[in-house]
Parts: sequence; structure tokens; C-alpha cells
Amino acid sequence: MREVAVIGIGQTKVDEHWDKSLRELAGIAALSAIQDAGLNQVDALYVGNMMSGSANHQQQLGAYIADWVGLRYAESFKLESACSSGSSAFRTALMAVASGSIDSAVAVGVEKMTDSPGSEITAELATAADSDWEVSQGVSFVALNALIMRRYMFEYGWQKSDFAPFSMNAHANAVHNPFARFRKPITEKQYLEAGMVSDPINLMDASAVGDGSAAIVVVPLEKLSFTKSHPIIKIIGSASATDSIAIHDRKDPLWLKAAEISSKKAYAQAGISPKDIDLFELHDAFSIMAALSLEASGFIERGKGPTLGLNGEIRPDGKIPIATRGGLKARGHPVGATGMYQLVEVVQQLRHTAEGSQVEGAKIGMAQNIGGSGSNIVTHILERVN
Ligand code: COA
Repeated sequence: MREVAVIGIGQTKVDEHWDKSLRELAGIAALSAIQDAGLNQVDALYVGNMMSGSANHQQQLGAYIADWVGLRYAESFKLESACSSGSSAFRTALMAVASGSIDSAVAVGVEKMTDSPGSEITAELATAADSDWEVSQGVSFVALNALIMRRYMFEYGWQKSDFAPFSMNAHANAVHNPFARFRKPITEKQYLEAGMVSDPINLMDASAVGDGSAAIVVVPLEKLSFTKSHPIIKIIGSASATDSIAIHDRKDPLWLKAAEISSKKAYAQAGISPKDIDLFELHDAFSIMAALSLEASGFIERGKGPTLGLNGEIRPDGKIPIATRGGLKARGHPVGATGMYQLVEVVQQLRHTAEGSQVEGAKIGMAQNIGGSGSNIVTHILERVN
């Protein structure tokens, strides 16, 4: 297998993009990434998306987007793994280039959620859960995460206020990210007094629905010149794992087994351990998921996730910075695009261009994207080479 490098990134702001179609959003991100890479075209385009069929009445995203960005006749298709669709597209691009099958690819994640009324998009998001055993009970995605958070607080004795640092850190970092949806810092009081969505998850625990797209161009490392304008970023770990789709089928609903498996595989490929990671773009769709990801990925022991927030270790100057450009909570969570936003932000950190929330001297960054309630998890580790 060939080593693979990231040479171009692009993204749109996460927002309510009522004036843009799905292909326009994807086109902005993909063309920005191709331009940033200094290329005119690529061999293939892989699209990460979850709900285009239901939310936008559009399938066939491969042909739909490739043609729009001037890549008619290129290989192109859509990958779907719920909220981790973006990272699945990236992993597909990586595998295609690493195998030698093609020499360049752009992975683009795109989702357009705000055209649908709230009740419809809530029902569409719930299709990532088990329709026979979970959704048929009337449970939404927020409600499933609320059950997990309530159980976690009960088992390990945490209070609601102990989760505030996750949201406060995300909002503080988003202030510096022009592509983020909510660019306002919040206080602990604002966190605690936010409207309840599904007890104990309130508005400041939850990521909002939104529209957006992000993209990355990858090529074989051997084809790169080390004098190129951007520092070279190599992909040193990539792994994906599934778990039961229904939470009640797991022995321990408070442990993200697929995060443990995919992160361990990625660490092994990279030849590193969690202490070598300079920043971690994790999947804070709900604050409880930030705690569970930190634990399952080996940054802290089981049941202790909130400690990292309370001790200031998750901030850009802390031991394990997370959500450095706002995370899902404040940058936004256009579901199928999110994994690509996380990877774009890791690249910004490794290029040392994450103005305002730069992790000093960042050399190795990790991104972890969660589909469903922990049922499909993709982990990537990137390293700055020069
Ligand atoms: N954080 C901060 N502000 C938020 C917010 C959030 N998570 N969600 C909405 N807002 C703000 C909006 O900007 C808007 O502000 P404005 O009135 O100043 O414009 C206001 O709150 C109302 O926004 P609206 O979109 O009408 O909110 P809503 O009540 O319809 O939906 C949620 C809010 C949290 C219920 C909804 O975004 C949601 O369901 N999120 C979870 C999505 C999900 O499950 N994703 C998959 C996870 S894996």
C-alpha cells in the first residue's frame, strides 16, 4: 500500500443555506479543496451524505456532484454510514489512492438539513437508529442520547454542571472559526439555563441541525514535492468499526466499543499511543458523546470523562484539546459533512493556520466520527511531515 497525503482542503460555513442547493454546497467545498491542492482535476470524487434521498429528494450524488464540479466521466459515488458518512468517504478516498487504483481523489461531505421542518428532520435522523426496536417506540436521537447521559450521571455520580466545560470550550473556540455556525462564547450560567430538549440534554448539550459541506484532496505521498507551499500532512492511521445498531443490544451502553476498536487500530497503524496526540476532533453531537469518546479512545479512564473538561485539559492549551474550531456543538453538525469538517480542522491545526485556537506546535491530530448511537465509528490520525 502507498502512503497517502492530504494536499487540499475546502469548506463552507455551517449555516441555514436556503439559497444554495446540495450540489452548490458540495461544489464550493470540493472546488476550494482542488484549488487549494493546486490541481485542475482529480481521478475520483467520493461523497459522504446521510439523508439526501429523504431531505432533498436527490440520490445519485456521485454523478450529481461530479458533473457540477467539472468531473464528468470521473469515478464518483456516495457513501452512507449515518453521521459518520463524511469519514467513510474520506476512508474510501484514502483506500483507493493507497491501493494504487487511482492517483488522486477528493472526498466531500455534504448535508442540507434546514429545508425540512423540525419534525421531519428529527424523524429522518432517527433512521440511523434501529427502526424495529428503537424508533418504533417513538424515540428520537436526542432522546436516545438523553437516556445514555442520564444513566452515565447515575452510574458515575456526575451532576449536570460537570458537562458545562464541553459546551463552553466548543463555543469559545468557534468564536475564531469563520466557518462555524455559533460564534458566541457561553457562560456556565447560560449552559445551565438553556431550554431543555430531552432531559437531561438541553440546547447547550446538543448540536443543532444545519447545512454545510467540507472536502479534502488526497494523493500518494511519493508524488509530492516537499517544497510545495503547504506543509505536508500524511495519514498515518485509519480504521472503522461497527457495533450493534440498537443501544439495548450492548452489554455496556456506556462504552463506545467501536470507538475503542477503531482508535486502537489507528494507534497501532501509526505506532503511537493516546499521549502522542496533540489534538482530538471528537464527535460532540451531545456533550455525553464527548465524555464517552475520550474514555473509549484511551484519554481517560472509564466514567471520568468530565474530569478533563473540569480541569481545563480540553482547551487549546490543555493536555488533550478537543473541538478546537467549535466542534459539532458550535461549528455545527450537518451530519454527512461533519467527518470532513473534523478532518479539515485537523489539517488546519497541523498546518498551524487555526488562528485564535491554534494548538501550539501541533504535529499529530486525530479525528473521530460517530454514526448512529456509537454503531459506526471511523477514526483517523494525521501527521505533519515537514
Ligand atoms: N445551540 C445553540 N443555539 C441553538 C442550537 C444549539 N444546539 N439549536 C438552535 N439554536 C438556536 C438557533 O440559532 C435559533 O436562534 P435564533 O432564534 O436566534 O435564530 C434558536 O436556537 C431556535 O432554533 P431552532 O432551529 O428553531 O431550534 P429547534 O428548537 O427547532 O431545534 C434542537 C433545536 C437542538 C432540538 C435541534 O437542532 C436538534 O434536534 N438537534 C439534534 C440534531 C441531532 O440529533 N443530530 C444528530 C446527532 S448524532
